[in-house]
Amino acid sequence: MLQSFKDMRGRVLVVDDDADARDALAEALREGGYSVETAADAFKGLGKVPDFTPDLVLTDLKMPGMDGLEFLRKLRSTGNDQPVIVTTAFADVETAVTALKEGAADYLTKPLDLTELSAVVAREMDRLRLHREAGLLRARLAECYSFGNLVGSSPAMQNVFKVLPQVAASKASVLITGEPGTGKELIATAIHQHSPRAKEPFLKLHCAALAEPLLESELFGHESDALAGSPGRREGRLQQAAGGTLFLDEISALPPALQVRLRRFLQEHAFERVGGEETLHADVRVIAASDHNLHEEATQGRFRKDLFYLLNVVSIDLPPLRARPSDILALAMHFLRKYASEDGKSLEGFSDEALERLTAYVWPGNVRELENAVAHAVVLASGPRVTAMELPPSVGLAAATADIHIPGSKMEDIERYAILATLEATRGSTTRAAEILGMSVRTVQYRLQQYHSAPKDESRSPAVIPKLPD
Ligand SMILES: Nc1ncnc2c1ncn2[C@@H]1O[C@H](COP(=O)(O)OP(=O)(O)OP(=O)(O)O)[C@@H](O)[C@H]1O
Ligand SMILES: [Mg+2]
Repeated sequence: MLQSFKDMRGRVLVVDDDADARDALAEALREGGYSVETAADAFKGLGKVPDFTPDLVLTDLKMPGMDGLEFLRKLRSTGNDQPVIVTTAFADVETAVTALKEGAADYLTKPLDLTELSAVVAREMDRLRLHREAGLLRARLAECYSFGNLVGSSPAMQNVFKVLPQVAASKASVLITGEPGTGKELIATAIHQHSPRAKEPFLKLHCAALAEPLLESELFGHESDALAGSPGRREGRLQQAAGGTLFLDEISALPPALQVRLRRFLQEHAFERVGGEETLHADVRVIAASDHNLHEEATQGRFRKDLFYLLNVVSIDLPPLRARPSDILALAMHFLRKYASEDGKSLEGFSDEALERLTAYVWPGNVRELENAVAHAVVLASGPRVTAMELPPSVGLAAATADIHIPGSKMEDIERYAILATLEATRGSTTRAAEILGMSVRTVQYRLQQYHSAPKDESRSPAVIPKLPD
């Protein structure tokens, strides 16, 4: 138990031919919570690396047989890239500088100052953890899932992908809700394209874009002279979409009288043109979308309840992008490939700093804003990786208001991010999250309590615009 706790701070290999120095170092590090192995010379040190797999190596420079510099080179040439800190007598700083050039992380002069030692080791361990975290983020990109043009690796999107084949196969009405730019129209399109109606028309009508008389005529059609300024009979979208799908965008804006007429159509597949007597029939699947919570609108009496139930046979709710941070990188890579290939540029990805900004930002405009940000960056990019400077400045500015900004951020912020993101992935199960994070359930719960009771950090709230004097 104690051993595994020590392992959590990291494993350090200490190599020094001077037994006293070696023991003093090992003791100080063990007290600091590290797991330590020692070796009396570089050969023995190399022998310990494969089994002990140190996170960090601390080596003396001047040693008989193989010196510290040679030891460092051997480590590197055998694929060991952990940070190496060299210790040296004050008089031999020149060799220490050579060691830095050859890839040592830092050097400490003897006699060692234990406070400095512990600070340098802790810093290198933090860096290592960040480095591994960035590697994990990149690996996660590889496991992104998709459905047609839809991309996403978050649990929320995977659930959507899971139900889409069945939804597409059925004729049931679908209601898609979500903030602007979350992908409602793209989902509607994907449903149609994967449905047996794929070869039939897919028509769209935006219910907030037209005044009532025009909207009514667009939907149901009109007889000759029934609509001022539009002589002759006209077919409405319902008739034009026969056999296919009609996408009714921003359905909450549909005026009450038209809600009644649409309800009749959904129940009986029957309607009349504006100004007409003849009852027409059309086989049309309806997919509706709304930025508003339509259930709430119906409860408050602002939308017909019966129509809500008829539209809501299948409901798909798209969470805002800030609530599914694990989709950000998958989407960013998707858009990078898309725009780079359109521009004929060969870009392989994002720099670490750019990735950090993308994940730190809260994306009020959701996927649409992310897509525009990447399109902007691709235009500016000189490659091979998009840099933070090439992203729109707004993405960088607002990063300061978000939860995590890796370089220079505190470990407690990173821990907070890791806990919250893992909870998102486990859909709130603290037990699963604790298992994944290698923490006790009590610690996770305690941290959550702390986050909830923490006073709001002023510097993280959006800027308040001061009132100008009259
Ligand atoms: N999961 C996704 N995968 C790939 N692209 C996506 C995804 N979600 C959204 N997009 C893209 O983001 C942009 C905005 O999506 P869309 O127009 O479907 O959003 P919306 O919810 O209908 O927005 P609004 O409410 O403003 O009409 C589109 O260019 C769309 O292709
Ligand atoms: Mg839309």
